[in-house]
Amino acid sequence: SRCFYFDELPSTNAFLLKHVEELSSGDICIAEYQSAGRGRRGRNWVSPYGCHLYCSMYWKLEQGMAQASGLSLVVACALVEVLKCLGIDDLGVKWPNDIYLNNKKLAGVLIEMSGQPDSECHLVIGIGINISMSHAQGDKIDQAWSDLSDNPSCPEKTDLAVALQKQLKIDLETFQNDGLTAFLERWKAVDIFFGKQVKLLMGDNEINGICKGIDSTGAILLETDKGLVPFVGGEISLRS
Ligand code: BTN
Repeated sequence: SRCFYFDELPSTNAFLLKHVEELSSGDICIAEYQSAGRGRRGRNWVSPYGCHLYCSMYWKLEQGMAQASGLSLVVACALVEVLKCLGIDDLGVKWPNDIYLNNKKLAGVLIEMSGQPDSECHLVIGIGINISMSHAQGDKIDQAWSDLSDNPSCPEKTDLAVALQKQLKIDLETFQNDGLTAFLERWKAVDIFFGKQVKLLMGDNEINGICKGIDSTGAILLETDKGLVPFVGGEISLRS
């Protein structure tokens, strides 16, 4: 696989999306700075120069987008595996794919696609990991965040990217062959909401329930007053 390295880009996701026709599964792109880093739900991803890892990987799905369901959980599991192997403890995952360290967000994943719904589909998996956040930057972020700078085993950015590329390729292969089965236990071991009272926001709707983990399609299971219900979208948080 190839690695496209840039000092500066608008967004590593946008770069790969622009070049899908020339890419092979497993190719990655890294930038030291993103002038228009993208987050989920149309938010921007603050991407100051040299401080963090901004990385995207290309992956082709031969059988169309249906295959993509559950994939974001696989990416989260791969990230956890890599960070764990580098000696980082106290990791957690928030459905569908945020990574937490000491209960504060450490990394985010944004998966973007292009292609036809039922045929070949191009996936771009974007990953942002906070490595060393300054206070001035941190103040601009509207949620509790963490980084790797206090960690005795704070990894080199390039080591992290290489390890991630390797693990993602292994886990995505497994997912393509066997689906989510192999990931359910890995997810459960780090699921920060398992067994907790949560609320799921879907548009104007708020659903309350107890989180019972995920099912084999990657949907989140909530024990609500209507019984156990799977949800595929929405934003989950602890019920306060
Ligand atoms: C989130 O909102 O939690 C997802 C953030 C994803 C950020 C990464 S940084 C590398 C890649 N390129 C982008 O423009 N976004 C993703």
